[in-house]
Amino acid sequence: TPGVRPLIAGNWKMHGTLASARELAAGVAAGAAPAADLLVCPPFPHLSAVAEALGRSAVALGAQDCHAQPKGAHTGDVSAPMLADLGCRFVILGHSERRADHGESDAVVLAKAEAALAAGLTPVVCVGESEAQRLAGEAEAVVAAQLAGSLPEGFASAGGVVAYEPVWAIGTGRTPTESDIAAMHARIRQELEGRFGGAGGTLRILYGGSVKPGNAKAILALPHVDGALVGGASLVAADFLGIAAAA
Ligand code: G3P
Repeated sequence: TPGVRPLIAGNWKMHGTLASARELAAGVAAGAAPAADLLVCPPFPHLSAVAEALGRSAVALGAQDCHAQPKGAHTGDVSAPMLADLGCRFVILGHSERRADHGESDAVVLAKAEAALAAGLTPVVCVGESEAQRLAGEAEAVVAAQLAGSLPEGFASAGGVVAYEPVWAIGTGRTPTESDIAAMHARIRQELEGRFGGAGGTLRILYGGSVKPGNAKAILALPHVDGALVGGASLVAADFLGIAAAA
């Protein structure tokens, strides 16, 4: 999108050790790309060490989830204010793995996104269809419904990020065709503008699902693809930086 700086985000999921997280963060920080904003999202126990390893680099820190309440009796959960306090600027919400593993509905994602905004975090809200939904011709309708249900009112004014991740492309090495990606991103843009007006025109829409250094250039060149949310390839600094270099 013209005038929008691409965002290349790494979702480290449930991988690594304290030592490997520090090393990966330091590797990413050392190669920070000039043409794109970089974000890394380690698991909760590694956030603090990664914040330290990133130091004063331009690489932003994010988490992979937060609770909808700012505090309280919620054993095992982590609040958005805690993440902000640790130095996080972003939080991934509604990833399909959380929607599947933890039964997170659009309403849950919406509540979490509101909590993130209240804590000053930028939500990266994930949407995407299953393979059955795509084969049934429902992909765009599914994504439009997820957007309508998951994005809070203040999303656009806070510069919220949408990540389109077709469930069947995650960790599989398969990606949609370039024209399918472009069509979905155009549809997401249309939904964002319909909901938020002009402000929806410059929000970043990331593509996620088997993004690698080898396919990043073609994907990132598509209209309304304003960056990538990278899983597996974000665990190797050179691969992640290779994707960023393609932006
Ligand atoms: O959130 C990013 C992720 O779901 C994509 O994973 O491994 O296909 O890049 P991967």
